[in-house]
Formats: sequence, C-alpha cells, structure tokens
Amino acid sequence: MSSETLDVIELLLTAEIYNNQEELIVNDIPSKIRKTLWDAKTRNVAKPIKPNKTMIKTMFGIEDTESALKINGKPFAYAIVDAYTGNARLTEGSLDAAAEWFKKQEGARDRILENPVLAYYFGNVAEEKDAGVDYKAVASKNPPKEASREWIESIIEELSEGKGNGREWLKLAYIKAPEEVRESMDELILTERQKNELQKIELAIKNKEHFRNIGLYDIGKVLFVGPPGTGKTSFARALSKKLSIPIVEVHLSMITDQYLGETSKNIDRVFALAKKFDPCIMFIDEFDFIATSRTAEGEHAAIKQAVNTLLKAIDNTSLVEDGVLLIAATNHTRKLDEAVWRRFDEIVDFERPTLEMRKDILDTILRRIEGDIDTESIAKKTEEYTGSDLRMVVREAVLSALLENRYNLVQSDLESAVKSFDRRSGLKMTAFIEE
Ligand SMILES: Nc1ncnc2c1ncn2[C@@H]1O[C@H](COP(=O)(O)OP(=O)(O)O)[C@@H](O)[C@H]1O
Ligand SMILES: [Mg+2]
Repeated sequence: MSSETLDVIELLLTAEIYNNQEELIVNDIPSKIRKTLWDAKTRNVAKPIKPNKTMIKTMFGIEDTESALKINGKPFAYAIVDAYTGNARLTEGSLDAAAEWFKKQEGARDRILENPVLAYYFGNVAEEKDAGVDYKAVASKNPPKEASREWIESIIEELSEGKGNGREWLKLAYIKAPEEVRESMDELILTERQKNELQKIELAIKNKEHFRNIGLYDIGKVLFVGPPGTGKTSFARALSKKLSIPIVEVHLSMITDQYLGETSKNIDRVFALAKKFDPCIMFIDEFDFIATSRTAEGEHAAIKQAVNTLLKAIDNTSLVEDGVLLIAATNHTRKLDEAVWRRFDEIVDFERPTLEMRKDILDTILRRIEGDIDTESIAKKTEEYTGSDLRMVVREAVLSALLENRYNLVQSDLESAVKSFDRRSGLKMTAFIEE
C-alpha cells in the first residue's frame, strides 16, 4: 500500500471520527493535519471538518487525490471524491468497514499510535476494541495547538488588527513556537540542582490553579545566573519545547532606546505582548543590561526610571494570572541589587561544568559524529571550559578532519582543537588586559 493512499484514508477516517465524537477536541488532531485545517480567527478547528483536494495537496503534497485513493488500480470502495467541489469523504455508513480495512495495512499501527483521533476510535469506540491502544497516552504525546506556529500567527494577526500598534511590539521580541525550537532537554547536561529546579518549574505550571486557590500568586519568576555559554538560553528554549508553550525572547538591548522615556514604554509594551501569548515563557536575556545596581554612581535619573518600570512590570506579571512564566538570565550576579533579587522566587545557578559533566557534554555533542573518542581524557584537558566552549572545540575538530577529507574524528583532532582553543582564549585574555 502506498503511503499516499494511507495518508488520504487516514485523513478521511480522522475527519469522520472527529466530526462524530463529541469528546474529541482540536488538540486531538495530529499537528500535520491541524495546520491546514486551522482557523486563525477562532483559533480552533471547528466541526465538521470537510477535507478536499486542495487541503490534501497542502497537507501531504499529493497532487491527485483520486489516484492516491486507488488500490490495485481500483478506487477505494469506502470513499468518494466529489468531482465538482473536490470534497473527499467516506461513503455513508462505511466508517467501521473503512477502519477495519485501514487497521490491517502495513504501517497502520504506527499511524494509530500517533493520531489521538484514530486512537480514540480503535481504543474506545470500535466494535472490537484494541486493548493495546491507549487514547489518553496517544493524546498526551500529540503536540497541543499552543506548540504550533499557526497558534502564534493567529495571535499576531489579532494584534495587528488592534489599534495598529501590535505589529510594532513584535520588533521588541522574538517569538518562537515550540515546534520551531531546536534545543532539547535531553541534549543539555544538568546538575542535580538544575534538574530539581526544572521539576519545580514544571510543577508550578501544571498546578497553576492550585496556587490560585491557596492564594499564592508569586510563583513562576526564575532567575538564571551564570557565565556566558553555560546553557541558560538553551535551557529556556528547551523548556518551551518540553512544556509545549511558546517562548517570547526579549533582549534588553532590543528594547533600550536612545530616548529613555521610550525605553520605559518599550518595557511595558513587551510585557503586554507576552501576556497576549498566555501560556508562554517570557525569557529576558542580558538582564543585567538594565537591572544594574540602582545605587551605582553616576547614574541618570532616567535609567533609574527605566529600572523601576522594569521592576514594576515584573511585579505586575504572574504565572497564575497571566500565564506568563518569567525567566531572566544574567551573567553577572554582582550587578543586581537586592530589590531585583527579591522579585524572583527561584534562582538557578549555571556554573562551569564539572569534569564529569564535561565528559557527558562531549558525549552528547559527539553522539552523531563517527569516531572512537576517549572523551574522559578530553574532559580532563578542558577545565574551566563551558558547554559552549566544548561545542566550539568539536566544531574546530570536525573542520580540521574535513580538511583531510574525513567525516570521522580521531583523538588527535580534538586534542589539537583544545590546544588551539587554549591559545586563542589566552590571546583574548592578553588583549583584554592590555585594553
Ligand atoms: N550544560 C550543557 N550541556 C550541553 N550543552 C551545553 C551546556 N551548556 C552550554 N551548552 C551548549 O553551549 C551552547 C551555548 O549555550 P547557551 O545556552 O547559549 O549559553 P548561555 O545562554 O548561558 O550563554 C549551546 O549550543 C549549548 O547547547
Ligand atoms: Mg544566552
């Protein structure tokens, strides 16, 4: 059976079942199908869904629905394509027979286990229920609508229809859908404390209602502290993917304006923007850029005003009320004053990785690269290196292997990369001192 045939028949089954089972909701539709059916206005996939040839082309790149629906040269008995409207559907009353047929095809099981709508049918509705299909489990693996780019686009759409300033706000932040995030938690090597913090953040988000009920509103503000290259940005992004909620990335250098009054306004705007994306992560990078000690010498009143606006904006943002999980990242601890610290309920330390962590980081980076490398020995030679430094070392090693027409790595590639990295950072150090 060609996979195109199964694509179309899976879609027709999904439509039929989704339309007729009240319990099924938009998040049960597999994301590939959902993208095409998505309605930005209502942010939903309204019932009934009516697949047609154009949709099928968009979803699967299938040019000719009729021929995709042919089996051994004959049209599939349980479906019809309306020659006039291009609509495709199962024939009246043939759902059970079509499903029965589908189930027997090669590869069908994988499709059922990735499609909550089908899982619901085969596990809970069909005459002969399949005990091996757990709808709830399949549904929990399907990315929710908030994980998709369309979700973000529909909110942006709405923003632009507003009083006309919504679009402007978008210049103040990068907004990413979880499905676009490349970083993932299992590629990050975390300390026990970081893992523990991660669990707490997840629990806080999952139990928002509980916190509201008991009157604890001040949760969901986290400060990441540590030198550059220790995984702060990667952690925030990976969290967006793990929790399937968008991430609104704010760089304070993006919102500082030469006119400080404008900076204060931008701060308010960017927080208002994040609140539109409920639920989301708002990640404020370069936090120390503005949250410098307010008592520092020679500071203008206007900077103080901007800092105060920022602090007030943080106070007025809540995970419980606004659905915004606030994460700020800073390289410098000393630059932040007491008033800033107090605003965060969790501080997560990002330190330079230990020997053991360096080995694990190297193993992770080298996972897809051919070559038998003693990573422990490299880890021993890279004290003080951050995760980002280790990535650079591996990149350098890969490039020098390529110079010798090799795709695989040998120990000496990495060893020389470490040496040249040491030399370079040594240079950087002298340049810095001379400045
Ligand atoms: N603990 C770690 N485990 C795995 N990779 C790491 C770790 N720390 C840093 N890296 C890698 O280094 C790169 C830079 O990290 P990044 O998240 O930008 O650091 P930061 O935001 O702290 O400056 C990323 O590609 C990341 O994968
Ligand atoms: Mg960063």
